[in-house]
This record gives sequence, structure tokens and C-alpha cells, in this order.
Amino acid sequence: MFDQGLGDRKSPELDIKTQVLSVKKLTKAYKGGKNVLDNISFDLYEGEFVAVIGRSGAGKSTMLHTLNGTISACAGEIVDVSGEGNNVVTMPRKQLRHWRSQCSMIFQNFCLVPRLDVITNVLLGRLSYTSTWKSMFKIFDDKDRVKAIELLKWLKILPHALQRAENLSGGQQQRVAICRALMQEPKILLADEPVASLDPKNTTRIMEALQKVSSEGIAVMVNLHSIELVKQYCTRVIGLEKGKVVYDGTPSGLTDEILHMLYGDEVEQLS
Ligand SMILES: Nc1ncnc2c1ncn2[C@@H]1O[C@H](COP(=O)(O)OP(=O)(O)O)[C@@H](O)[C@H]1O
Ligand SMILES: [Mg+2]
Repeated sequence: MFDQGLGDRKSPELDIKTQVLSVKKLTKAYKGGKNVLDNISFDLYEGEFVAVIGRSGAGKSTMLHTLNGTISACAGEIVDVSGEGNNVVTMPRKQLRHWRSQCSMIFQNFCLVPRLDVITNVLLGRLSYTSTWKSMFKIFDDKDRVKAIELLKWLKILPHALQRAENLSGGQQQRVAICRALMQEPKILLADEPVASLDPKNTTRIMEALQKVSSEGIAVMVNLHSIELVKQYCTRVIGLEKGKVVYDGTPSGLTDEILHMLYGDEVEQLS
């Protein structure tokens, strides 16, 4: 089924880019500190595969968490332009829960439930849509089960469906985490350093999986440390330096000068 697309998201209009998010003058400072995000503005479109790059401490993780609402911003706007037009920055807590399913995040440590099997972990992605008593007893609709199986198949992890999550390799767990996020049918998928702890083979698998997700019309945004991967897979790059956007453009436009501006002398250590 997923060979034909994730639900009905794929449309011929995909070539005319539909904007999904508008970020304006986003600012964040942690308690008493200086601005970690400083007046960040950008628009996000469906089907984009955006890399967020920059030195350690530049504000990459803070930015992704702020978009998803797990970290609250101090000022600015994050507007869900393709949805209800709400501003995530001022959103009430209850509404934020729904937003997090629309702007889904894959965390660095996957956050799977280790002792549960893979398919149940994926089904847990439906929790925000399932009534509390049903989720307590892990009762899921057949439709959800079918969808979970299809997603696992789509990301070539179906043979492990009944294994406990804790018995899977890091790369396999990462793919399960992607499936779980996709169960929420998000418009945006965020991933904080999704390949940081993976070997080259699993890195390729995850990057290909994320590319596949973006080709279905979902806007994918990931923090990456490898410029080589950015150039190989991403359609756009946002470069952060001390909380400011200093580059927003194509991967091919990343000149040595820009890389030097982003990484200083650390540029030689980049692959
Ligand atoms: N919970 C926090 N409390 C205070 N400062 C933080 C917190 N999280 C991150 N920071 C600081 O914010 C800055 C940006 O961090 P982060 O977003 O993690 O950057 P990156 O992901 O680019 O490495 C860093 O100076 C970091 O020390
Ligand atoms: Mg980080």
C-alpha cells in the first residue's frame, strides 16, 4: 500500500509547493541566559528534506524541540499555516498534544519501550488518537494494526515485528521509531541527529527511509553533522551559528566560505 503512497498525501500538486509552517522571529533563551535562538525566520514546505547544520551549541536541538513544542519559545511565531493557522508558541497545553502528533519528533535515544515488541511500539504512535482505556489495555483497531504492518514492511523491518524492541540494533530501532512517528500521520517529521550513533550501512538505511518519507509530501527536518550526507540526501539546508540563521539554501550552495563561517576551523574535521 505504501508503494502507492502514505494515505492520500501524494498528489500531483506536489510540484507546486504547499507551505506547512511559517516561523517568524523565533527567540529562545534558557533561564537567565542569552538567546540560544535569536530571531529565527523561515518557511517550511511539504516534501522538503531539510538539514539543520552548525557547530555544537549552535541551537539545532533547541530549534527542533521548539518547533515541536517540547521546549517553549520566549517570543516569535511558529504558525501551522496548512492546518488551523495556530501559533505553536502561544498554544494551550491540550492543543500542543495534537500539534506534536502533526509535527512528530524522533528523539536521539529513540524512546521505544524496550520490553514491548516492535509492532506494539509502532502502535503506541496512535495513542493520541486512541481513548485512554483502550490504550491502557493496548487495544488497537484492526485498521491501525494493518497500517503498522504496512509501515514496518515499507521500512523493511517487518520480520522483526514480534521481537522486543530492546533486542534490535540501533539502526533497526531508529526505523521502528520512524514508523511509530508515521502512525500519527504527521505533516512534519523532525529528527534530532538520527544517524549520530549508526554505522555507515544503517546510516544509509535511515537516510533513505527519511528521503522516502519526504517524497510522500511530509516535510522532514533533521540535524546532521555530515556535510556529505546533507549533499547526498537533502533538498535544503538551514545553517545555524550562535542561534541565528546564517545560511538557508540548497546543499550545492554550501561553499567553503559558508562552511567556514558555520564551523570555523572545525570545518576540516567534517566528512
Ligand atoms: N536545558 C538547557 N538549559 C540551559 N541551557 C541549555 C539547555 N539546553 C541547551 N542549552 C544551551 O543552549 C545552547 C544550544 O544548545 P543546543 O540546542 O543543544 O545546540 P546544538 O543542538 O546545536 O548542539 C548551548 O549553549 C547549550 O548549552
Ligand atoms: Mg544537539
